[in-house]
Parts: sequence; structure tokens; C-alpha cells
Amino acid sequence: MIKAVCFSGVEQVSYRELGNLQIVSDDDAIVRVTTAGLCGSDLHPYFGRELGIDQGTILGHEFVGEVVATGANVQTLNNGDRVACPFTTNCGTCRMCQLGLTARCEEGQLFGWREKGKGLHGGQATHVRVPLADSTLMKLSHGTSDEIAILMGDNLSTAYFATQLADLNQKDAIAVVGCGTVGLLAIQWARSLGVERVLAIEPNSHRRQMAGQLGAITASDLQQFKSLTEEATEGHGVDSVMEFVGLPDAQRTAFEVVRPGGTLASIGCHCTPHLSFSPSEAYDKNLTYRTGRCSARHYMETVQQMSASSNMDLSWCITHQFSLDQASEAYSTFANRTDHCMTAVFKFD
Ligand SMILES: NC(=O)c1ccc[n+]([C@@H]2O[C@H](COP(=O)([O-])OP(=O)(O)OC[C@H]3O[C@@H](n4cnc5c(N)ncnc54)[C@H](O)[C@@H]3O)[C@@H](O)[C@H]2O)c1
Ligand SMILES: [Zn+2]
Ligand SMILES: [Zn+2]
Repeated sequence: MIKAVCFSGVEQVSYRELGNLQIVSDDDAIVRVTTAGLCGSDLHPYFGRELGIDQGTILGHEFVGEVVATGANVQTLNNGDRVACPFTTNCGTCRMCQLGLTARCEEGQLFGWREKGKGLHGGQATHVRVPLADSTLMKLSHGTSDEIAILMGDNLSTAYFATQLADLNQKDAIAVVGCGTVGLLAIQWARSLGVERVLAIEPNSHRRQMAGQLGAITASDLQQFKSLTEEATEGHGVDSVMEFVGLPDAQRTAFEVVRPGGTLASIGCHCTPHLSFSPSEAYDKNLTYRTGRCSARHYMETVQQMSASSNMDLSWCITHQFSLDQASEAYSTFANRTDHCMTAVFKFD
């Protein structure tokens, strides 16, 4: 018998007891989950912005746990291994995997997304089935906490990926739009990569304050953001902007502050059919636009080492813990930023 958090409709999740999980393919592992995370991406289907997910889908794509069963072809994992997991599965051998684009593996699937009866259940559950287990899971050493492992599988890797898309190494003044956990981590990465001036916009005052503490110059609205950017760049606009929201007005904000010849990296998951700027506006700015899903499996070891060697403070990220049967409260606390919630996790005994 497994216990899980399931999607039940817009702004509705339910705690359920379901049948036992089985190995389906010889490449599978079953992981007993010890910690599972909530992420801004969970909010898109929760608020009905992203459509198509089946009711009854077990939610969640961030989890860490212990291997409790393996299929006949699994070579590198044994029962009892502690493992971290990226938010998509990958085979490790196809052309995309070889290119480091594990998020676009030809056989890959996203955890916690089932549509018309097909797809993969998620990790907000006592147990989760992980296909392509050898190449998807990362074994953890004793010193790595569940909290760090959860961040490696998504938010920390995604924020690092954003700095790669935005090519931060040679930039002088950059901007961050949206300071949830991923945006704030990107501010930390940017500062640790040596970027002098990081400007950030965030409407939520607590999160804006956090951005300031992590080294950004902050604004609460577009007008203030534009004037800060103009001041910091002698009117040119920033070299790169990273957007971590996934809503059209935020993408427009990002476009407004980038200089001609600059880069706009849209990391937010956008669910609308059009960009917030036109082809001619992009042309007139000589804009480089980059976007896409983070290949977390490709980055996990790198971000673990880099964050450890730079002593990156990650203690602020996970602010709330819930048990699975508090699923509704966990989602509403995270979605409404109640009590200064940054990231919430489910903990298991
Ligand atoms: N590309 C990927 O692989 C990937 C991976 C993880 C998350 N994401 C996406 O990244 C985004 C951020 O994730 P998160 O967990 O930090 O989400 P979050 O919901 O916790 O944070 C988003 C923040 O944006 C702020 N915001 C809302 N409208 C804004 C606006 N117009 N201007 C500026 N800020 C605004 C909100 O107040 C909030 O603090 C989400 O869209 C998520 O789906 C993408
Ligand atoms: Zn996520
Ligand atoms: Zn592959």
C-alpha cells in the first residue's frame, strides 16, 4: 500500500492510499521516499494555468529516498542505496543524453505528469517508480542531507542552468525577474560567479528582502526596476536578464530591461501560446532569446561540488515541512506564500 498526494482539480489536491507499486520494466527501481519537494512548477497545474494533467496523477517531481527494489537490468544500484533524482528520467545513451541534454532524452519522462492515461506518477508519495534507474538516479554519500539532494534535483540545478543560458561569465550588470527559490538561487550563483551588479524585481516584500540580503539591488514594480536598471547601466539596459516566473507580464518586464545585443533567458515555464514581445521588437534589439527545461541530471554533480566549495548558504530555501496527509495545507501554504513560505517539503518517517 502506498500513500500519495494526487491532483484532483484546480486548487485541489488529495491524500490517498493506493495499491502497491510494481516494477514495470527491467530498468526500473522503486524508491522509498524520505523527503519530497513542492516547486513553483507544481503551481501551474494547481492554479489551472497549465492544462491536461489527469485527475488522480500522483504529483511532484522533487524527491530523495532509498532504493528498495530493482529490475533485472539495473546494474549500479542496490537496495539500501540513498539516491537523489532529477525531475525527468533519462537513458544516458541517446543523442540528446550524449549532448548533455538529459531533459530532452528520447525516452525521458517528467515525474508527476500523466495525460490521457500516459506518463509517469510523481514523488509526493511514500514510494515512486523510477524508470531508466541506472542513468537517472544519483547515489548519495552519507554527508549529503535530504534537503541539499532535493535542491540538486531541481531548483539549484535550474538556477545554475539559467546562468549558463544567460552566459553570465562575462557580464557586468544582469537582472533577475521573479525571486522565488529558483530566482534567489540564481542571484547567489551570479554573485558567486563574480557578477558585480545584480538587479532584481519581485512583488512579494519578504522575497524582495531576501534578494537584497543575497546581494541584489531590488525593485517592487516595473517603473522602479527600469529606473534602477538605467542608473546601473548608464541607460543601456542589462547585459542579460533571467526570468523565473512563467507569466507573460514577467517576460515583458525582462524584455524591457535588456540592452541591445543582450540575452533574455526565460526559465519560467510559460503556458501561453505567444511570446510577450514581437519578432520585430526582438529584431530591433538584436535579442538572443534562450529557454527550456533544465537538464538537471547533467548538472547535479557539478552543482553539488560548486555549492559546497563556495560554501553557498542554502539554509533559507526550505522553510516548511508537512506530512503527506497535510497535502491541502502544504499546497495552499506554498501557493499563497503564507507565513513567508519559500519551499515546502513533505517528510516521511
Ligand atoms: N526551466 C526549468 O527547467 C524549470 C525548473 C524549475 C522551475 N521552473 C519554473 O521557474 C519558475 C520559478 O520557479 P519557483 O519555484 O521559484 O516559483 P515561485 O512561484 O515560488 O516564484 C515565482 C516568483 O515570481 C514572482 N512574480 C510573479 N509575477 C511577477 C512579475 N510580473 N514580475 C516579477 N516577479 C513576479 C512571485 O511573487 C514569486 O515570488 C516557475 O515558472 C517554474 O515553473 C522552470
Ligand atoms: Zn520543479
Ligand atoms: Zn537519452
